[in-house]
Parts: sequence; C-alpha cells; structure tokens
Amino acid sequence: MNDIIRPSLKVQLGKIKFKNPVITCSGTFSHGEEHMVFYDIGKLGAVTTKSYSLLPMKGNPPPRICETASGVLNSIGLQNDGIDSFIYRHLPWMKGAGASIILSIFGRTTEEFKKIALRILDIKSEILAVELNLSCPNLEQGGKAFCAVPEEVKRVVDSVVSMLDIPVIVKLSPDFETIDRSAELARQSGAEAISIINTVVGMAVDIDTAKPLLGNVTGGLSGPAVKPIALARVYQLCQQDILPVIAMGGVFGYRDLLEFLIVGARAVGIGTANFVQYDIGERILNDLTAYLREKKIDDVNKIIGRLKVEKKQA
Ligand SMILES: Cc1cc2nc3c(=O)[nH]c(=O)nc-3n(C[C@H](O)[C@H](O)[C@H](O)COP(=O)(O)O)c2cc1C
Repeated sequence: MNDIIRPSLKVQLGKIKFKNPVITCSGTFSHGEEHMVFYDIGKLGAVTTKSYSLLPMKGNPPPRICETASGVLNSIGLQNDGIDSFIYRHLPWMKGAGASIILSIFGRTTEEFKKIALRILDIKSEILAVELNLSCPNLEQGGKAFCAVPEEVKRVVDSVVSMLDIPVIVKLSPDFETIDRSAELARQSGAEAISIINTVVGMAVDIDTAKPLLGNVTGGLSGPAVKPIALARVYQLCQQDILPVIAMGGVFGYRDLLEFLIVGARAVGIGTANFVQYDIGERILNDLTAYLREKKIDDVNKIIGRLKVEKKQA
C-alpha cells in the first residue's frame, strides 16, 4: 500500500484562492523572468508584480541599495515603467509563463488609484487580485504614507473596490500604530485581505565620508532583520481576525514560512531572499511539502493559526 501523504497545499483568503501559500513579494522578483531560468514560476501560489503607477517613474537618486547586518536597505523610490507597460509588455509574458498574478499598484492621490483601476478593468480576468501599496506618499496629506491615516486607506479602498470586481489586497507598513484601524476600515470597504509588512524605515552612514549610504538618506529595511517585527504585526492582526493575512518579512527558508503560518497568516511572501537564492521559491515549496509529509499532516491549513500562547500572570 502506498501510504505517502500528498498534503493539500491549497489556501483561501476570502475570495482569493492560491494553489499553495508560497508567493513572492512586490519589487523583489520583477515579473519572474530571471527566476524562470532557475525554476517554473507557475508553481508558486502567486507572483506579486513590482508596484505600478499610472505613468512611468524614475525613482530615487543612487545609491539605492546597501547591505546592513542581517538585512538590506533600499530606496528604489518606486521606479517603474507605468501601468501600460505592465498591461502590454509584462502581462503577456507572465501569462505565457503560467504565473498566478497579483498586480501591485500605487497612486500619489486617490484619483490616481482610480485612474489605474480604470486602466486594469480590461485585464481583470487575467489577474488573481490587485494589491494596493499604501506605504507610498499621499500628496493630499503632505506626503504622509496613505496607511498612516486609516481614513485615507478607506478612501482608496472604497474607490478601487467600487470600480473593480476583483479581490483587493491592502498592503500595510509596520511603521504605524494604526494598522488595526486601517485593516478594519479596509474590511468595511470591501478589501479581501491584508498583506504586511512592507519595509521598515531605516538608515545607514559611511563614517569615512560622513554621508548617508543611500542617495535618499533613509530607506526601507528588509530581510532577516525584520522577521520578528513582521511576526509581531502578523500576530497582532491575526488575533483581531479582521481580514485574512498575507505575511512577509525576512522569509529565507521553510521554517520562517511555518512561523508565519502558525501565527495565523494564510499565505507568505518571499522578498529579499529572491536576490540571494534565486531558486528560493521552489525550494521553500519543496521543503514545506517534505515537512508536512514527515509530520503526517495532510493539509497545510491544519498548521495555520496553531499558535499556543500561555501568558503567565506578572
Ligand atoms: C528592493 C526592494 C524593492 C521593493 N519594492 C516594493 C514595491 O515596489 N512595492 C511594495 O509594495 N513593496 C516593495 N518592497 C517590499 C517587499 O515587497 C516586502 O514587503 C519587504 O521587503 C519585506 O519582505 P522581505 O524581508 O522578505 O524582503 C520592496 C523591497 C525591496 C527589498
């Protein structure tokens, strides 16, 4: 008798169905062209695109990236070649490669978010979901991040949901104490899931020149250094059970992914690790399957939210 367990890896976040919980993070995987040389990106639960704006953006002055202890600082400044370039150039390639696509978008005003939503109406059947990158500056609030102000999150989600009948994911920054309220307002406005964390604000200095190591002075920290921050934020949101959570931050192996699932995330993104180990997506998927088999767990959903917290009285 063949008693090898073939664990089910399917996960569902509201209306969003992933064939497995392993996805890639925005801005760290391009569209998968480079990684396709190493493995079949169609195996991933989803590939999240770079964040697209209405028009092309040049991004920040160099240097835009530097290493730190256990992490990376970047100040790319949301460089991208505009939503039309995604629609006409990258989307056909991604479909051809068999990728399940999460399209990440951002605007500098609510109106810009709306205009991008209008552009993607025609391709909505070709993508799994739209992810709103709400860590970007809101010009109507003096450049403060959209997600710093929960009512602004609501405004954007309201306007995108009213135009697009495809699932909307709201991506939040860990830098604000408003995440619960933002998630709640996003839910009320019809968002399907929250993804968290975006990078953490950070800085590094060259002591010989006394200059910042990034052209933009500050940037976003990612990689293993941010994993505990991400876990705490995912825990915070999952405890409240507001919306299903896609977790990310410092995932470099299947054990990291498992931590996020145990805390309650239903899917997990791989970001910075894609720059270091090009086949990491496939490797984590294989290792996850092997782990479930070894533990005789027939469904990955049995891991999700299994956290046992025993808080002792002080
Ligand atoms: C070079 C770089 C570019 C990024 N670009 C984007 C982006 O365009 N949109 C976005 O929502 N997040 C962007 N991120 C954030 C990642 O998607 C992810 O949320 C974050 O890096 C945490 O995951 P990690 O520690 O696994 O990298 C970027 C991160 C890096 C390192």
